[in-house]
Amino acid sequence: MLTVTDVEFGYGSAPTVSGISLQVAQGERVAIIGGNGAGKSTVLKLIAGLEQAWSGQICVDGAALPEHAHAIARRGVRMAPQGHPVFNSLTIHEHLLLGLDLRGTDVRTKVSVDEAYGMFPRLAERAQTLASSLSGGERAFLGLAQVLVAGCSILLLDEPSAGLAPAAMKELFALLYRIGAETGVTMLIVEQNATAAMEICDRIYVMSEGRIVASGTPTELSASDDIVAAYLSF
Ligand SMILES: Nc1ncnc2c1ncn2[C@@H]1O[C@H](COP(=O)(O)OP(=O)(O)OP(=O)(O)O)[C@@H](O)[C@H]1O
Ligand SMILES: [Mg+2]
Repeated sequence: MLTVTDVEFGYGSAPTVSGISLQVAQGERVAIIGGNGAGKSTVLKLIAGLEQAWSGQICVDGAALPEHAHAIARRGVRMAPQGHPVFNSLTIHEHLLLGLDLRGTDVRTKVSVDEAYGMFPRLAERAQTLASSLSGGERAFLGLAQVLVAGCSILLLDEPSAGLAPAAMKELFALLYRIGAETGVTMLIVEQNATAAMEICDRIYVMSEGRIVASGTPTELSASDDIVAAYLSF
């Protein structure tokens, strides 16, 4: 169980996020949605240890996470960052080996490189090509394959659907659903595409201006005209 309690943090002197409290139970898929600049990525960065909260607690199974990002990753709390960055000079296969090298100890999913190729056949076909040659969508799949090989208990995904064509997005979300169901890995997904997130997530948090302004199951949120008008209609 991931528990974030009353977290506050800012990049400058003013807070960027305030009073952030959220829980994600073991095996749950939870989304954070909200407009640009709401603070969604900041919340993921705080959980992953890439930024340090000014105040509040971030715990997994009741214990505070280690301070440093690499130690948090080795505990199995891993983030696939927004924009799917890759190392230009490494091949797809080398990215997966790097994931293997970074494998943590206390992790729920340990996907082998071969299993990853089975899940992502298009990466297998191009294993020896440079990752820099991948399209944005293909990089999204490589990023996901890499964190799965590295092993994780809690997967933090920052806008996995960004830049994906509708078919690829559908494929990615179906894969996320399958990975969750098959491995029991916990997922916290930041997503602009609220509709796609609501299809595969158990619960949703809505952020606006650095705060959580609503939360509930997809059914509960869809039943609120105010929430639908403000955050769920395109
Ligand atoms: N490294 C940084 N230094 C200073 N300000 C930052 C930094 N990163 C983010 N911010 C600011 O913090 C606020 C929240 O940013 P954040 O990236 O968390 O938003 P977001 O909800 O993920 O937005 P988006 O949907 O556009 O990705 C924004 O106003 C942003 O400009
Ligand atoms: Mg963001």
